[in-house]
Parts: sequence; structure tokens; C-alpha cells
Amino acid sequence: MTALAARRMGVRVAVLDPDPHCPASAAAEVMVADHRDEHALGEFGSRVDAVTFDHEGVPVAAIARLERAGVTVAPGSAAALMAIDKAAARRRFAELGLPVPRFVVARDPDAILAFGDDAGWPVVAKAASGGYDGRGVRVVERDDVTDAWAALGPGPVVEERVPFEAEVSVLVARRRDGSTAVYPPVATMQHDGMCVEVSWPAPLPPALATAATGLAAEVAQAIGVVGVLAVEMFVVDGRLLVNEVATRPHNTGHLTIEAFTTSQFEQHLRAVLDLPLGSVEPLRPAAAMINVVGSPDGCDPLDRLAEALAVAGASVHLYGKPPRPGRKLGHVTALAGTVPEALSVARAAANRLNGVAAEQGARS
Ligand SMILES: Nc1ncnc2c1ncn2[C@@H]1O[C@H](COP(=O)(O)OP(=O)(O)OP(=O)(O)O)[C@@H](O)[C@H]1O
Ligand SMILES: [Mg+2]
Repeated sequence: MTALAARRMGVRVAVLDPDPHCPASAAAEVMVADHRDEHALGEFGSRVDAVTFDHEGVPVAAIARLERAGVTVAPGSAAALMAIDKAAARRRFAELGLPVPRFVVARDPDAILAFGDDAGWPVVAKAASGGYDGRGVRVVERDDVTDAWAALGPGPVVEERVPFEAEVSVLVARRRDGSTAVYPPVATMQHDGMCVEVSWPAPLPPALATAATGLAAEVAQAIGVVGVLAVEMFVVDGRLLVNEVATRPHNTGHLTIEAFTTSQFEQHLRAVLDLPLGSVEPLRPAAAMINVVGSPDGCDPLDRLAEALAVAGASVHLYGKPPRPGRKLGHVTALAGTVPEALSVARAAANRLNGVAAEQGARS
């Protein structure tokens, strides 16, 4: 989606991907190699004007190596670390005095026991790195500690289970000179830790919405990110807690393609290339986005495209990824006068792509 935004502006994009037929190949030149291949990454960096990332799998050391080689890298290694390593991020956010859930970075299973006995069970334990879509996040009861410790890898973040009223996300685009464009907060809905629905505007009192955009901008400045930053927050007792950040265009910002004057993808490019940021004016009063996730039977949503496109007002995006159960294969966005209307249109089309019967979809 970033490559598509680039094409429109006449910017040529190259991607480093082991799969020559990766989704970006539709709009970008592919250098076929793994992002963990140091030599290939160095070679890639030497051929382009600027390097950015669209996932958290790139080792921080590799980003730092590019920086040392004089390549323009955005975000830089220090900011990217905040998305790559949840333990480093939590420590940094706490040092900065930002509101975060009560947490500990556990050195051993006893540290989890001590934390849970104090904070209350169950706790939420998260792998420091490598997790996404809720993989690597576990709700842990006292008698699961040994299993959780074995599953999560070294130094997991262990935190109180927050009884949140809502989850929201704020996207910020920041340029090297510190100028920012901040989108208003969106509400996000997760199932089993994976984002399934996003809607805008988030149902927050105006003062809390302003606090959320202010908090996200504060995080962006504090970590010196260049590019798009997504700040995921919990709303609990009418207060905000920072959960985690992503230093790239994010699933919670996909609705900006249709709903705002400038999409998060274009905004990311503008920031990375140090070009003026675009307007974040909304185009309609409300929007909703539903993810299209691979079903257990492995069906390809592309086979149901015609049914989905028959839903008036639904914008369908399919990424061209081979279908796999649980994999994000696309999304649907709808704009409307109110959030419930937008949700109902987006759900109708997403249900068709997912092969969910209309009555079943209406009940879920
Ligand atoms: N401390 C907590 N208390 C309650 N629920 C939590 C907590 N931490 C995480 N969750 C739930 O699990 C979801 C996934 O957690 P988190 O965002 O930290 O991990 P992730 O797998 O990296 O997510 P992403 O899909 O954004 O990559 C959250 O959106 C939230 O719904
Ligand atoms: Mg998350």
C-alpha cells in the first residue's frame, strides 16, 4: 500500500523480500533477499535514496549498520527499537514518565510470580520481540507461569491485566525537523489479540481525544521517530495508558486511505523523504475498517470479490497474499454519516469475503 501511494506521486520503490511475487511486487521493484541478510541489506541501502520498513522483523543492529554506512534510514534505529523490543519500549516510556500499565521485565519465572502476587492474577505476559497480532501475548494464571516462561523467550514484559473500557490508536507522522501531522484517535477492537475492526471517530469525550493526540505527539517527539508512528492506548477509568507503538504505517490507520485527505501511507513517504506533510482533514463524519482474515478452510477471499463489491459504499482491498488461516489478507473500509452505519457496510462486505453468511455475520 505504501508502494501504491509512492507510484501515484511518481516515487519509485524497491523492496527487499525473499519472495519475488510478494504483494509489493505489483507496484515496486523487488530485490530478492531476506531482510536479515546483512550483505543484501547493505547492497540494497547503497542503491536507494532512503530506506524504511513495514514490519518489526528487521534487527536493530542491521538498521544501525545502515545508518553508520551513511544511508538515510527512517525511522532510525533508536526509534525503531521502540517497536521491535517491547521491553526496551516499556522501560523507556516509564522513564519518560508516560502513563503505562504497571509492569516488570521478568528475569526469571520467580519475577513473574512476585509481580502477579502483588499486582493480582491473571497477568499479561508478552514476548519482548517477535510477537504480532497477539502472537506472543498470553494471559497468565499463577499455575501457568512455568509454561508461559518457556514459551515467551528471554526477558518478557509482564503487566497487570488492564480492565479497559476501550482501545484506541493515534497515528502521527513526523518529519526530521520535528514537524508532525496527527490524526484523530480511532477505536480498535481486538479478538484474541488481533485487530479485527477499527472505527473513527473513537467514542471519547473531546478532552480525552485531545489528550490522546497530545500523548501520541509527545511519544513521537520523545523517541524522535521519522515516518508514521502508531500509538496504541488503553482507556481505563477515563484515563489513557500507552500499550505499544509501531513505527510504520499500521493496521489501525488503513481507513485513512479513504477517510482522510492524506493516507497514512502517503504521509509515511512524505516524512521518510522529508517532504511537506499532508492534511489530516477527514472527508466524511465517520469511517470503519474491517480486516479480512484467512478462514480455517483456506478459502481465497478473491473468489468472493464480486459478492463483496456488490455492497454499495464498501472499498475492498485485497493484498494478493496466498490465503492461510488467521492471516490478514485484506481489509474493507466504508465511510458514512455515523460509525454504526460505516461498520454495517464494511461488515457486510467483509463477511462476504470471509464467506460468512449474512445472518451469521449480523449476529457476530
Ligand atoms: N495489559 C493488558 N491488559 C489487557 N489486555 C491486554 C493487555 N496487553 C495486551 N492486551 C490485549 O492484547 C492485544 C494485543 O497486545 P499487544 O498490542 O501488546 O500485542 P501485539 O501482538 O504486539 O499486537 P499487534 O497486533 O498490535 O502487533 C491488545 O490490543 C489488547 O487487546
Ligand atoms: Mg498491539
